[in-house]
Amino acid sequence: MFTLLRRLAGVILITLICSAASIAADLPKDRRGQVLIYGAYGFTGKGIARLAAEYGISPVLAGRNAEKLAAFATEVGYPHVVLNLDDHQRLVEVLRHFELVMHIAGPYTYTAEPMLDAAIEAGTHYVDLTGENHVIQAQLDRDEAFKAANIMVMPAVGYDVVPTDCLNLYVAQRVDNPVTLTLLMNGEYKAVEGAMASRGTIKSGLELLSRPTLMRIDGVMVEVDQPKVMEKTIDGQARTFVQIQWADMLTSWVTTGVPTIEVYQQQSADIPGWVFWLIKREWGKKLLVWLVDNYFPEGPPPEAQADRQTQLIATATNNRGESFSAQMITPEAYKLTFHSSLIIARRILDGQWRAGFQTPAGMYGADLALEIPGVSRSDLGK
Ligand SMILES: NC(=O)c1ccc[n+]([C@@H]2O[C@H](COP(=O)([O-])OP(=O)(O)OC[C@H]3O[C@@H](n4cnc5c(N)ncnc54)[C@H](OP(=O)(O)O)[C@@H]3O)[C@@H](O)[C@H]2O)c1
Repeated sequence: MFTLLRRLAGVILITLICSAASIAADLPKDRRGQVLIYGAYGFTGKGIARLAAEYGISPVLAGRNAEKLAAFATEVGYPHVVLNLDDHQRLVEVLRHFELVMHIAGPYTYTAEPMLDAAIEAGTHYVDLTGENHVIQAQLDRDEAFKAANIMVMPAVGYDVVPTDCLNLYVAQRVDNPVTLTLLMNGEYKAVEGAMASRGTIKSGLELLSRPTLMRIDGVMVEVDQPKVMEKTIDGQARTFVQIQWADMLTSWVTTGVPTIEVYQQQSADIPGWVFWLIKREWGKKLLVWLVDNYFPEGPPPEAQADRQTQLIATATNNRGESFSAQMITPEAYKLTFHSSLIIARRILDGQWRAGFQTPAGMYGADLALEIPGVSRSDLGK
């Protein structure tokens, strides 16, 4: 019996060593300059992978579905590795071969923590695209662990929040002791037919909707019953803006230290009441996710990505009533995200990183967004 157990233990050990060796055989030997894109066959992962070479990045692609991953890897000609987020040891083993993981699989409510656990253990820098505030808060709370592991963790390196974080910092730097940041987002500045968001973004938005509505007021996140509504005339046209839970409430708080941060989006259509009713129920949330997966387009069509533009207007105000405003015109959100995430990845590989939780403008300055093709900024003044 004892001999049998010893043989069994031996077989298990050899299997483990062999599988570790076979992972290692296919992966970069030297981690310097190496990037793993996880969630590579999703709508946004594909966009980033297709553009990576423009930034001198030759990534290895990863995801949990072997078939979808292999098909996309063959199309773009990069190596790939099948990985499940619930296999911690294998994740660590793989991440040890990379300097940076671009984590593009969401909703991050479910995917961020296992990847971060592995990144800490493997000593791998981490960027993601989350806009889920509770996820960013959880990352902020782990700042000391990231510092101890000597890795940089930067969430939200896409449309949410690179341009807004940069514009918020720009206006905050032009007012003495600002106490309020107000950001208006006009998604219809240059409107083009077609979906505004990817399935992954809608599903991540549902995660946010299913939780209490939190807004940054006087330095703390406070639960509110109703988002505020603001009427504003811009470029001669009266518009209605509704307050939204944009991640700036966490990231621009870290970047600028301004205690009250309000973000408003131009109202296009009301979310039907039944969505709010369903989202509060676990089965209802599953039904909504199923509807998104089966009836919504993958993401904005190429024409929309090429031509759509957004207008952002940020205003910083202090207690004396002094203020400064500036605007930014950006390309379509996903096109911007493909570029902004790779610009930041490139900087990390070039040695521009600091251990701990970092924000885009906090780390790279207010002009970072101007590196993104198609982004412009202009002062609106006091
Ligand atoms: N910050 C921004 O501005 C910005 C911009 C674009 C996207 N995003 C965010 O990025 C995320 C991805 O967006 P997307 O447009 O690419 O969505 P998508 O097309 O739905 O792709 C999602 C990807 O995540 C993978 N995934 C989901 N859950 C997973 C899990 N538990 N384990 C492993 N893989 C998992 C999916 O793999 P399967 O197909 O196997 O499920 C797929 O590869 C979303 O959270 C979205 O909100 C943010």
